[in-house]
Amino acid sequence: MIRFSTVVASLRTSEIRDLMGLAIRPDIISFAGGMPGNELFPVQEIDDIYAALSRDVKQTAFQYGPTTGYPPLLESLQDYLKSRGLPAGRNRLMITTGSLQAINILGKIFIDPGDLVVTENPCFIGAISAFNSYQGKLRGVDLDDDGIEVNALDGVLKQLHERPPKFVYLTPNFHNPAGTLYSNQRKYDVAEVLTKHNQLLIEDDAYGELYFDEEARKIVVPMKALYEEQLTICYTGTFSKILGPGFRLGWMLVPPEIFQKAELCKQSMDACSPNFTQVLANEFLRSGKIYPYLERLRKTYRQRKDLTVAAIREYFPKEVTWTEPRGGFYIWLKLPPQLDVIGVLKASVEKGAIFVIGRTFDPEGKDNGHLRLAYSNTTEDKIERGIQIIAESLKADMAASHRM
Ligand SMILES: Cc1ncc(COP(=O)(O)O)c(C=O)c1O
Repeated sequence: MIRFSTVVASLRTSEIRDLMGLAIRPDIISFAGGMPGNELFPVQEIDDIYAALSRDVKQTAFQYGPTTGYPPLLESLQDYLKSRGLPAGRNRLMITTGSLQAINILGKIFIDPGDLVVTENPCFIGAISAFNSYQGKLRGVDLDDDGIEVNALDGVLKQLHERPPKFVYLTPNFHNPAGTLYSNQRKYDVAEVLTKHNQLLIEDDAYGELYFDEEARKIVVPMKALYEEQLTICYTGTFSKILGPGFRLGWMLVPPEIFQKAELCKQSMDACSPNFTQVLANEFLRSGKIYPYLERLRKTYRQRKDLTVAAIREYFPKEVTWTEPRGGFYIWLKLPPQLDVIGVLKASVEKGAIFVIGRTFDPEGKDNGHLRLAYSNTTEDKIERGIQIIAESLKADMAASHRM
């Protein structure tokens, strides 16, 4: 008799996940995964970096390392984060195995079964799963074009004041899946509300470096850099969307008392993050190779976004609405209410294109009125055809629902 834990026993594979499994045909045009473009990875730079390492450092790369990170990388990353205005000060930096591990560890530190957690609605699916795995109860607050709806956030926190949530989890820069960039005013208003309710903030900044224009560059300043004095903020970031998820390197920048607990959790999870990729990431930062590389990424993702937006304008039914992203990987589209989004997904997959439906990102698992397109991993030659296929499926479904 196999006796699973309560948490694992309640995990179910979804219809959508099964459908995604079918979508690995080589000819399928995918707007599904939130993945960087394969052609963009700095393969040559990393080849050169590895070749130039001393034998000693190569041996270190193969070895276990300290739980909290490879010391030279901690130092170079700290400098890099300082250049983004992030406060080293009292805070401590820990390297994690992807930023999903940082989010997972923070979930483990704070959530007891049944505890409330406030997130945006929609929300990054990895965070939803991590918080659910500790049996947190998620409460989603809607986003508008400037960020989380601040009156709604205030309302929820007031309503929950007798048993306040353990933390609020937000992604202010180029949100996954909504693409939203929080305005400066909204960040200020959110900080005021969180301060008033004495709430801990987990700020996820996976996409902040991938802005498309100068104005957006000025806005991507993390809340951790702006409101450190008035709020307790656990800041997470990652190399996944820049260097590549195969590095499995992320980080958290947190106050020392949280750092201590996080270190204990990480020790039992994986002892340390891969030393091999930490050595490479450190050289990539120190050598300054990262700066021209980031410029290249911004340019290419902007181009892919422009092509996707142009094709949506041309082919999608006018009833589908969306906001043009100013950075990151995603466009989030709102569908007319009568539309069967799962039917549209099935039809698109049959014809050769795939996306992710909105319900995947709803912390309460209800949304059926949105879809997410990730343009980051779709090469320029495929974007128009892929969008045409999805547009045809949308139009066919709308025509059918009008006939009913
Ligand atoms: C908002 C957000 N945070 C965190 C992550 C986690 O990425 P990783 O664990 O590869 O750092 C992702 C990946 O899709 C993401 O979209």
